Amino acid sequence: MMTKVLLATDKPFAKEAVIKIKEIAAGAGYELALLEKYTSKEQLLEAVTDADAMIIRSDIVDGSVLDAAKQLKVVVRAGAGYDNIDLQAATAHKVVAMNTPGQNSNAVAELAFGMMVFQARGQFDGKSGSELMGKKLGLHAYGNVGKRVAAIAKGFGMEVYAFDPFISQESIEADGVHCVNSVEELYATCNYISLHIPANSQTKNSINYRLLSSMPKPARLVNTARKEVVHEADLLKIFAERADFQYLSDVAPDCAAEIAENYKGRFYFTPKKMGAQTEEANVNSGLAAIRQIVDFFEKGDCRFQVNK
Ligand code: 3PG
Repeated sequence: MMTKVLLATDKPFAKEAVIKIKEIAAGAGYELALLEKYTSKEQLLEAVTDADAMIIRSDIVDGSVLDAAKQLKVVVRAGAGYDNIDLQAATAHKVVAMNTPGQNSNAVAELAFGMMVFQARGQFDGKSGSELMGKKLGLHAYGNVGKRVAAIAKGFGMEVYAFDPFISQESIEADGVHCVNSVEELYATCNYISLHIPANSQTKNSINYRLLSSMPKPARLVNTARKEVVHEADLLKIFAERADFQYLSDVAPDCAAEIAENYKGRFYFTPKKMGAQTEEANVNSGLAAIRQIVDFFEKGDCRFQVNK
């Protein structure tokens, strides 16, 4: 039986990426099935029944998907964050879960700057805005995206700070970035904070009143990570208390309607998660995903496994 790879993306990849993924699958003698822009979970449950491998983006792979995927051996999240995969259920189903770290980082980093410039210029409303040069930018986590944001920020002439307990001080400082010792210090130092933490049980709701209220004026929170890491009741509290506070987020928080009603001009939310939505990022992460699948079946390579 031919190995079957299902590419299931609610938010489709650029055409170029799909063509290249198909080529690599065909080169390995695999069949590639495509499920794009699906509108119900049932469609996904049906499509996975005979898939040996699966490539997804932010698509939810939970216990029910894994139950339906009787042949599945590997699922690759073409991207960085894998909070959309139930890792315990994957392990219980003997399915290897992987991500493709770093492949879409530049796209996310560029979006952070797109939003920062847009907001600093008053969303291009014709009035005088402000510049990023000379401003203090705090990177909350210094992984692939944080590192890329730092490189771009230096081009803008920003003063860059970072906090990441998993990255050595030496490697942060080697990039010309100030390494701070605590998350408290980062927020208390920087006018701009850019979030690059994953969403997990430790980080969800962790960006709270205590941290946000310590930011110097004017405060700008930039979130290209996950909306779930921000404590929304605290976010609303800060919006109400601090007229200088602005929030830019790649996807709207659940309380977006309340923010829109009361705090006009102080926020920007993308209508859909857009950070990795470039042709380049789609090609990089999509190709990495199919290559990892081929290496998994042909060589038993599990290098990028996240459910160990
Ligand atoms: C990621 O975790 O890689 C990004 O959030 C991209 O998500 P997407 O593939 O749904 O655009």
